[in-house]
Amino acid sequence: MKKIGIITSGGDSQGMNACLKTIIKMAERYNIEVIAFFGGYKGLVFDECKTVTSKDADMYFSVGGSFILSGRYPPFIEKKEWDKAKAVYKKHNLEALIVLGGDGSIKAANDLSTLDMNIIVVPCTIDNDVFCTSKSIGFDTAVNNAVNAIDNIQQTMKTNGRVLIAETMGRHCGEIAMHAGLCSEADIIMIPEKKQDVEKIVREVGKQLAVGNTSPTLVLSELQINIDDLAKKITETYNKECKAIVVGYIQRGGSPTVQDKLLAIRMGVGAMDCVLNKNYGCVVSLVKEEIKFIPFEKAIKAKYKFNEELWQTFLELKRFKTEKKKSKKSK
Ligand code: F6P
Repeated sequence: MKKIGIITSGGDSQGMNACLKTIIKMAERYNIEVIAFFGGYKGLVFDECKTVTSKDADMYFSVGGSFILSGRYPPFIEKKEWDKAKAVYKKHNLEALIVLGGDGSIKAANDLSTLDMNIIVVPCTIDNDVFCTSKSIGFDTAVNNAVNAIDNIQQTMKTNGRVLIAETMGRHCGEIAMHAGLCSEADIIMIPEKKQDVEKIVREVGKQLAVGNTSPTLVLSELQINIDDLAKKITETYNKECKAIVVGYIQRGGSPTVQDKLLAIRMGVGAMDCVLNKNYGCVVSLVKEEIKFIPFEKAIKAKYKFNEELWQTFLELKRFKTEKKKSKKSK
């Protein structure tokens, strides 16, 4: 019987379980055994594993997280760790390893491929920063969660006439903040792709207040500035209460959206197609709405295509909103 290994690696994302179940179900159909290594690459290195069946995955299809656990394993940058992983791969006589993870996991998969291991990656990260695919599994759910959280907070902020600063996840990529900001009708969005200094942001808040917006919302992605300092500055400058909220891990939990489930199913099937056709060393990707298999080297070099149209749409809506408020105020 053919055997494959599977891991979920890095920050988990909603839809990982749906993808795992799809892969396991397909493997059963083709009489392939699936060995899950627990907690990402670390589980592989330390050979912490178990054969999994669709029964094991059954209850998890609609659940966030990963039922085979995930995690980061910083020592994996060292070749001696790859050698250990290879030894485990050989010990189990694996035909291939499927990795569900983000950009760091792809780099690690590429390193392992140099040791003649057959690897396929399915892009799973809420950050949407795997650039060979237009969407990664988990992004849609994370944006929905962020929008729901910001919408809720806005209701009380507006009622109390407070300024809101909402910080989303995304590491060095502003995808979550831009989408969540647009869909929660933020007045100001601050993302690393469109650098703006703190002074400018404070002035922007001032402009909003001046046109009669008593409760402006600012959505920004993490790791750019200290939001508590920004809140203090806004309060001091305009004598206006300002709350800084980290949306946080709520973005990474909960059931995947239908969009994410569909992507998880399509990409899971794509990963198993790779196994069946011995198409290894690639990332299962969504390119122009179609599932494609992008070789690691190309995937790693793929450039970020910032959605300028969406950004311009945000700016246009903001101009329109501000003009409207201005004319209302002057009447
Ligand atoms: O990579 C996904 C991500 O959710 C980032 O947006 C965030 O910065 C990070 O993971 C947090 O991960 P953790 O705290 O679990 O290491």
